[in-house]
Amino acid sequence: VLCWFYVFPVYRLPRDKDIVEEVLRHGDAWRKNQTSIDLFRKLLTDCCDPPRMFAVTKENSPLGKVLWYDGEFYHSRVVNNETYSLFVQDNPLQLPLKKCAVVGNSGIIRHSKCGRDIDQADFIMRCNLPPLSKEYVEDVGTRTHLVTANPSIIEKRFQNLLWSRKSFVDRMKVYGSSYIYMPAFSMKPGTDPSLRAYYALADSSSNLTMLFANPEFLATVGKFWKARNVHAKRLSTGLFLVSLALGLCEEVTAYGFWPFSVDLDEQPVSHHYYDNILPYKWFHAMPEEFVQLWHLHKSGTLRVRVGHCP
Ligand code: CDP
Repeated sequence: VLCWFYVFPVYRLPRDKDIVEEVLRHGDAWRKNQTSIDLFRKLLTDCCDPPRMFAVTKENSPLGKVLWYDGEFYHSRVVNNETYSLFVQDNPLQLPLKKCAVVGNSGIIRHSKCGRDIDQADFIMRCNLPPLSKEYVEDVGTRTHLVTANPSIIEKRFQNLLWSRKSFVDRMKVYGSSYIYMPAFSMKPGTDPSLRAYYALADSSSNLTMLFANPEFLATVGKFWKARNVHAKRLSTGLFLVSLALGLCEEVTAYGFWPFSVDLDEQPVSHHYYDNILPYKWFHAMPEEFVQLWHLHKSGTLRVRVGHCP
């Protein structure tokens, strides 16, 4: 007789309360450990070569190259004249980046007063075109250097850009002259909306630069974490960005990562700092991801800010 737990192996997930206790036990102290930082960057370089591979470029994806979609079974697209012309020449970032802030969207960042801290970083990364309106500035800051945009956001929030592109272009202004990082070649239905977003920005002489996430990079980063106990169908955007930051930056601080229902005072926390819409349950494994981030925090590789900023 097949027991259900042979079919669905049970990974022990941390309970929210256990995590709160663990974080409280550890306290606010954090010491940077250069050896751990260098070692982790070497692991990431060996598997995924972030500086060269994070974006689709003319250099890593020449005409005729086959791009294999990382979120789709056996689907590919050959780089032709049209797509090639949309790629940046090479990695456009001045490396290494010094202090980087990666801002996740958890409700834990609300009332954290981390905005100033975040804005002081040299390079600031955000997830999924988050709101930066006045009411949040004190907690999340104002500056952005790279922001991800999932194609599904283009579909849901901007009617797939089939009608007016003006509201999209206007709403992107809050991200200044940053890079907009889109996984255009991850899922088949995501490609056209991503290309439309590219054209909407290009046609309006927007200050933003489109970078397409390289599906090969996303796949190798996914494998990297699979080998480290993250059992999700797909990594969360935040973990992709933290991995990218650890590969590109001298020092990384993560804010807004807290996929639990209570905060350190055991008060309820919303899923996002701007709403409480929960993700599709089995798609990401954010609590497992947090455990990995917390290991990195404890080893001095990356700083995870959970509580208030000073
Ligand atoms: O699209 P996705 O579900 O990955 O992301 P999101 O909800 O827009 O949030 C951005 C990132 O913040 C996530 O990918 C997570 O890494 C992190 N996050 C978290 O750690 N805890 C939460 N409660 C919400 C988001």
